[in-house]
Amino acid sequence: MRLSPYFKLTEGGDSVFNVEAVKIKFGFGAIREVGAEARAFGMKRAAIYTDKNVAELEPVAIAVDALKKEGIDAAIYAEVEVEPTDRSFKASAEFAREGKFDGFISVGGGSVMDTCKAANLYATYPAEFIDYVNAPIGKAKPVPGPLKPHIACPTTFGTASECTGIAIFDFLEMKAKTGIVSPLLRADLGILDPNSLKTLPPLVRAANGFDVFSHACESFTARPFTQRPAPPDPTQRPLSQGANPYSDIACIEAIRMIGNNLVQAVNDPQDHNYEALMFAGMLAGIGFGNAGCHLPHAMSYAVAGQVKDYRAPGWEQDHAMVPHGIAVIVNSPAVFELTGAACPDRHIAAARSFGSEISDVDENEAGSLLGRRVIDLMKATGIPNGLTGVGYTEEDLENLTDGASPQKRLIDNAPLPVGREQLKDLFKKALAYW
Ligand SMILES: [Fe+2]
Repeated sequence: MRLSPYFKLTEGGDSVFNVEAVKIKFGFGAIREVGAEARAFGMKRAAIYTDKNVAELEPVAIAVDALKKEGIDAAIYAEVEVEPTDRSFKASAEFAREGKFDGFISVGGGSVMDTCKAANLYATYPAEFIDYVNAPIGKAKPVPGPLKPHIACPTTFGTASECTGIAIFDFLEMKAKTGIVSPLLRADLGILDPNSLKTLPPLVRAANGFDVFSHACESFTARPFTQRPAPPDPTQRPLSQGANPYSDIACIEAIRMIGNNLVQAVNDPQDHNYEALMFAGMLAGIGFGNAGCHLPHAMSYAVAGQVKDYRAPGWEQDHAMVPHGIAVIVNSPAVFELTGAACPDRHIAAARSFGSEISDVDENEAGSLLGRRVIDLMKATGIPNGLTGVGYTEEDLENLTDGASPQKRLIDNAPLPVGREQLKDLFKKALAYW
């Protein structure tokens, strides 16, 4: 592969990459078109998945109205849990099974879209819950075939769940985040309407913006696909296939758009900022859906899963929670400091796209250049100062490391091998940045 020296062929490494594209409809007012699209998929009886908060907002009302106009019978399931669990996945699948729907529409954030994918899967191909769940926690059985049509309408941005074949949940008895992954889980159409972002509080915009940046930057600096062993069965190439020429294009542009828009989008948002955030989220989704994230996301599962009493303004205050974008970005500067050595050019290119104006950079400084730019934008948008900012101390390092270690799919996608001690050291460096 000569598209970039980064994709130099290796002995036993893959020489082919997949381009998995999802159909997207994008623009102000786009959600009004969900009825006509559902009709085009042949839906006559659709399930609308949402959560109890989004159920009260305009996008759900618009979607219901649009379906009605097309004569489509719609049943609303508003019981989706934010940060879903195996319990809530199972309940949502039960609703799907009993309703005998011929199509699914999700209106909400990543939790809603992920839950809808799982409900569609278990209703279409009933199985023991553990069967489709990622190994080593589950049996990782392949999804048997195509699911019923699913139109995903995100009311937030960042998760890019509308672009990916991933459904993430908390496995309650194991206190671990895991998921179900298959290209067949992807929605058939994503409808992205920037109007939906106008009700998001400032810190939600900041956290989700950093999630977008992280998807893009981790995918861009991931292990090249040519260094991942070639799959024995070419139809089973993993979604986390590593950095590749296709995802690169989407990622570098997403990083640039977030760099240009995030501070204003948090502090004084205009229509063009909402549009940029949503578009960047889509680009990063295409990027990480085809390449895969690495260490900051691997670490984030422990940071979110072991939360003590942190509550973030803008989210529900009835329980402690580290929102996903925050749980990710608090790790990133420490990670880039380490990974910079593996692919310095890529870290420098990412830092420049993100707005770093330093011209002469020593290769040894590549990782910290990117890390410093991330820290500057964290400060400018009110993100907590590292792990201590969300309630962790030195005494938690061991448990955090234990919590992140099982995230093998993500850890293996880093541009260099990372063992347990290094992982612990990353958590230590992520304790505070300023
Ligand atoms: Fe993420």
